[in-house]
Amino acid sequence: MQATARAQPNIALIKYWGKRDSARNLPAAGSISITLSDLHTEMCVEVDESMRDDVLIVNECEDRDMLPRVKRCLDTIVGKPRPAVRVVSRCNFPIAAGMASSASAFAALVVAADSMLGQSRDTAELAGLAGRASGSAARSLYGGFVELENCDDDIYVSQLLRSDEWPLRVVVAITTPGPKPLGSSDAMEISRRTSPFYNRWIERQSADLDEARTAIANRDFAKLGSVAEHNCLKMHSVMWGSRPPVIYWHSATLACMQTVRDLQSEGVGVFFTIDAGPQVKAICLPEEEARVRAALADTTGVSDIMVSGLGARARLVLR
Ligand code: DP6
Repeated sequence: MQATARAQPNIALIKYWGKRDSARNLPAAGSISITLSDLHTEMCVEVDESMRDDVLIVNECEDRDMLPRVKRCLDTIVGKPRPAVRVVSRCNFPIAAGMASSASAFAALVVAADSMLGQSRDTAELAGLAGRASGSAARSLYGGFVELENCDDDIYVSQLLRSDEWPLRVVVAITTPGPKPLGSSDAMEISRRTSPFYNRWIERQSADLDEARTAIANRDFAKLGSVAEHNCLKMHSVMWGSRPPVIYWHSATLACMQTVRDLQSEGVGVFFTIDAGPQVKAICLPEEEARVRAALADTTGVSDIMVSGLGARARLVLR
């Protein structure tokens, strides 16, 4: 029994930062994201009767740190007791560095594991299962512009627009490719417990979601950029106000933000967003891609640039 699935990471424009139920990994508020096309994780899962325990191989190396989360995710999909599973993951972008690698990994894992068993849960159910493993992963079950709604006792994920309905481009400025110092789950919990800004952040989410949803429906780039930057900076303010502070930025992160602001003042259609890591994602109109890319590549501290369009949902590639 074997199956391989591929999923792309997604970048949140209206962020998820905080849980209302840690045990079930339910977010405290909704979020809106764009699924990318050119970065991906491919997951091959295979039942191996000769093994006594699960094994996780990531980019050719055994990964024991991530294995407990993968095991829990397999338990929810396959059920218990279950045979040992070999999970082989390949990712074409930096892992655990604020590039949403856990989103694409768990989205691909649920699709592959479901198919390996010969089951065919619908996308909504798979999104719910992916979200239990990693909140942002639920959004990679859908392509294009995606909203995750925080419902009474569950999450509901849906597509707002297909990628071809508003084909924006994303330029990622890599400032530090190494893993982040603190994982999102732990950092969110520190923010919830200690940041004086946390409650207000959660209260204001629905207003930001409304504004972003309307901007996306109207293809209003300036409005989307304005609310997305505002939401990103509020999330980082919650982090900075935590004790101990949660600071993912480096000096190069600020330098990239300044580059984007300079481009904006020259009339270029671009805005930035930053997740739980030092990399800066610049979202731009297609005709501005070359200029944005050149300006970020020229920014002090940028070690690499990755460019992507918007892409499709997680899907099976081999069974
Ligand atoms: C800053 O989805 O990694 O990227 O549910 O604890 O696995 P867990 O968190 P995760 O958090 C993502 C945080 C973010 C914002 C976002 O993607 O919405």
